[in-house]
Amino acid sequence: MNLFNVYPLFSINPVKAQGSFLWDDKGEKYLDFYGGHAVISIGHNHPYYQNKLKDQLEKISFYSNSVQNELQTELAEKLGKISGYEDYNLFLCNSGAEANENALKLASFHNGKSKVLYFSGSFHGRTSAAVSVTDNPKIVAPVNFSERFIKSEWNDIKQLEEIFEAQGNEISSVIIEGIQGVGGIMIPKAEFLSKIKELCEKYNSVLILDEVQSGYGRSGYFFSHQEFGIEPDIITTAKGMGNGFPIGGVLIHPKFQATNGLLGTTFGGNHLACAAAIAVLDVIKDENLIKNVQEMGGYIEDEIKDFPHVKSIRRKGLMIGIELDQDCSEVRKNLLYNHHIFTGNSNDKSVLRILPALNIRKEETDLFISALKTVLENM
Ligand SMILES: Cc1ncc(COP(=O)(O)O)c(C=O)c1O
Repeated sequence: MNLFNVYPLFSINPVKAQGSFLWDDKGEKYLDFYGGHAVISIGHNHPYYQNKLKDQLEKISFYSNSVQNELQTELAEKLGKISGYEDYNLFLCNSGAEANENALKLASFHNGKSKVLYFSGSFHGRTSAAVSVTDNPKIVAPVNFSERFIKSEWNDIKQLEEIFEAQGNEISSVIIEGIQGVGGIMIPKAEFLSKIKELCEKYNSVLILDEVQSGYGRSGYFFSHQEFGIEPDIITTAKGMGNGFPIGGVLIHPKFQATNGLLGTTFGGNHLACAAAIAVLDVIKDENLIKNVQEMGGYIEDEIKDFPHVKSIRRKGLMIGIELDQDCSEVRKNLLYNHHIFTGNSNDKSVLRILPALNIRKEETDLFISALKTVLENM
């Protein structure tokens, strides 16, 4: 059997990883400045994380959601405390798409309405409703398409108001990324977020903040929307939550009523996933990683902002979009094959997307900075 060929692959086969470095099957070393798509939050194979998982594996790795699981409670308590959302409830699942799918469904159960507002440039995942609110026609199959999903322009308050005025009574929820990642590191305006919150309250619509990529400390806040002082009804998370172990979460305002069977999953919140997610939160707290994010993010921006071909930098913490004056794909290939540094791209072809681990060290950022300088100066 062959693999279903949906991924364009680099010809690199990593077999070992530690901190912010990877090694391939030929022993070549690579610097990971993309965290495997924003997933590696506390660095590869962090010893505390490894030990938590090994210990858990020796005890119990899985039983279904029909029994008590104290690890879920511990995770919910720790997540509530570190994020400041202690009075919210947590539903655990396996991925970002699944978290958004459950959020959209829960909103609709809650207010009985069926339309969803989303924004241009969005990416919310590839499952049914999540892909319907994703702004990429290439990945929305006919079975996913419905006029119930309404697109509004990013940061456009006027259009938002017009849509709510015309259809507000039918809008179940508004879904928005804390910072658009796949869209090219697009940061929402404070007044845009406040207006969304105000309209959701006015029309009894649910505000869903997708923090799958921008959450878990990456922006320099635990959740990126916290910089703007708004409180969503539902927050979704995944990616950095398990540092590579699949886990997603839905943080739910206490006004939502849980009933038996309303949501459910086979694998979500299993013992190993919880052990991984608890280890991530412990390390973020104990190693003060959010402070490191703020310092390293600022340092990288200061060092690279005047490099040739850099048009602008869009950045919060270690979520960095480097806008070049041309397509970034050659720069990316050059960094990878000539300097052994992984970086990312986005739907905006000119934006190089940088998402290193939250515990990246200054000397590691210097490797990236000097390689980028060489590449851009020789273009
Ligand atoms: C903002 C956002 N939401 C949702 C998803 C989907 O997450 P997953 O791939 O875990 O389903 C992603 C993935 O890139 C994302 O960036």
